[in-house]
Amino acid sequence: MTMHEHRVVLVTGSTQGIGKAAILELAKIDFSVIVNGASTQNLPQDYFNTLKEIYGNNLDERFLYIQADISKKADRQKLLEKTKNKFGRIDVLVNNAGVAPKVRQDILKASEESYDRVLAVNLKGPFFLSQIFSNWMIELKTSLNDEYSPYIINISSINRYTSSTNRGEYCISKAGIHMMTKLYADRLAEYGIPVFEISPGIIETAMTEKVHLKYDKLIEGGFTPINRWGKPLDIAKPIIAIVNGLLPFSTGTVIDIDGGFHLHRL
Ligand SMILES: NC(=O)c1ccc[n+]([C@@H]2O[C@H](COP(=O)([O-])OP(=O)(O)OC[C@H]3O[C@@H](n4cnc5c(N)ncnc54)[C@H](OP(=O)(O)O)[C@@H]3O)[C@@H](O)[C@H]2O)c1
Repeated sequence: MTMHEHRVVLVTGSTQGIGKAAILELAKIDFSVIVNGASTQNLPQDYFNTLKEIYGNNLDERFLYIQADISKKADRQKLLEKTKNKFGRIDVLVNNAGVAPKVRQDILKASEESYDRVLAVNLKGPFFLSQIFSNWMIELKTSLNDEYSPYIINISSINRYTSSTNRGEYCISKAGIHMMTKLYADRLAEYGIPVFEISPGIIETAMTEKVHLKYDKLIEGGFTPINRWGKPLDIAKPIIAIVNGLLPFSTGTVIDIDGGFHLHRL
């Protein structure tokens, strides 16, 4: 099989929200893209139309949608095999897919079922997906020339260090992603594979839809130094900076994209 001639990125959870914004920005800088989601068999037509505007008649060659639930081992394997079969290479893995608890429940009442679901999607999935993709990246590193510069980028959250007692399982999963960034950054440095983490603040997506009013009020009250909702594009832009090689002496680095939420203010 001939090697695909463009850089290839897989963004997990990219049917909407932050993942979709990342896909579109990466496509614009000439990446071939793999879109992933768990719940839909086919992407909506408007998604295809937007990609078609970027790729024109090369759409079929440059894009792949894989329905796969990253919490399931067989589905993670499917992501690997389908990527190998279509492109024969992977340059960037963005571990973005994530879920909030279906119901926000105080930790004194939270269910094991919700804990297992959130941890499986937000932490176990990315951990083992990174394992299989980084083993392949290591193989590619030895067989490809110096032009091959792979990256892994993990999307965590301000909840990696911020307590929200009504969704403890989400906080724990994001704290885990933060440690996962360190582990993979450490392990993969010898192979020249940098690992980054982007820690978003409050971003306007389907995930925050249910609590939109609550956050509107917080933002009105001066919640963050940069006082506005974050947008998916705010997260896509630093991904572009990373894959364009603008942080050449960094790995394991966390980039806070949160309007300054992480500052302690007095
Ligand atoms: N929005 C925020 O304020 C915010 C803040 C901090 C961090 N984050 C993090 O940013 C990431 C993206 O969030 P978002 O706001 O863009 O969320 P979103 O709009 O709810 O999108 C989530 C995406 O993940 C996919 N997904 C869910 N479960 C999956 C699974 N088991 N396997 C594969 N894909 C799955 C969904 O695909 P389908 O629906 O098609 O299955 C969807 O494409 C998440 O990790 C989230 O925790 C978000």
